[in-house]
Amino acid sequence: MIENLFSMAGKVCVVTGGSSGLGSYMAQGFLEAGAARVYITARSEDKLKAKAAELSGIADGECIPLPGDLSTIDGIKSLAGVLQEKEDHIDVLVNNAGIGTGGAFADMKPEVWDMTMDLNLRSPVFLTQALLDLLKANATVEDPARVLFTSSVAASETHAHVMAYSTSKNAVEKMTPLLALALCDDHILVNTISPGRFYSEMTRGAWQDPESERFKAELERIPAHRYGGLEDIAGVAVMLCSRAGSYFTGEVLNLDGGHRFRH
Ligand SMILES: NC(=O)c1ccc[n+]([C@@H]2O[C@H](COP(=O)([O-])OP(=O)(O)OC[C@H]3O[C@@H](n4cnc5c(N)ncnc54)[C@H](OP(=O)(O)O)[C@@H]3O)[C@@H](O)[C@H]2O)c1
Repeated sequence: MIENLFSMAGKVCVVTGGSSGLGSYMAQGFLEAGAARVYITARSEDKLKAKAAELSGIADGECIPLPGDLSTIDGIKSLAGVLQEKEDHIDVLVNNAGIGTGGAFADMKPEVWDMTMDLNLRSPVFLTQALLDLLKANATVEDPARVLFTSSVAASETHAHVMAYSTSKNAVEKMTPLLALALCDDHILVNTISPGRFYSEMTRGAWQDPESERFKAELERIPAHRYGGLEDIAGVAVMLCSRAGSYFTGEVLNLDGGHRFRH
């Protein structure tokens, strides 16, 4: 039983923001768990192609790059159009692409607010809607399709200078059970992973000098005393998207080494 419990054999997956960081870790997890095809998306085509080539080499499944900007509705429609041409169904959609913004309230610009909300909140909603028919196509009670969102510990933190980012992620968490209920009769499970600090491009500034006093102090504050990495999120994403996690829906899983208790 145990090897099948976490198997994603034959699954077709889409991971947004899959060219680096958390998205690439989840894509790698799916491929190593046996996924047939994992589509990864991002804007920068070179980085995306390089990551797809790297991940295609680690397992039997294929990693396919689909470049595009998901912060616009046109970008969402165009990605959905390409997927509709290539696939007759999708088993797993991971809405992970996101942007971190911050700064003093007095200097906050509407463009930055909109950019944050467009990519972190609007894009996951309308990409899921655009891919609904593909997600429904093979979904059954026994083998439901999965939609995952990537939130952040920032959703439950209260730092005045990360207003737009925290609000966008808090809204993703609020939306999770709403969408789970909206899609339950289509046999689509909807869950959110809410990460704390992870090694990625977004956090590079904090960890690139691991000997710095600032980074050491940050690790001290995290109850697990470390940043998260590949195995931490790949393990949870594979669990949520395989048989093992098929009785979770509308759930927000805090994956933060206890960070939210002591930020
Ligand atoms: N790292 C952490 O500690 C942490 C903690 C909590 C939550 N998160 C969340 O985790 C998710 C992934 O972030 P990360 O830390 O892995 O950052 P990352 O390494 O910077 O990866 C972000 C990914 O999203 C893509 N992306 C950015 N803007 C996009 C756009 N407009 N359209 C399409 N793709 C876009 C990036 O590629 P391009 O730039 O080429 O488009 C890249 O593939 C985000 O939602 C973030 O909020 C991260």
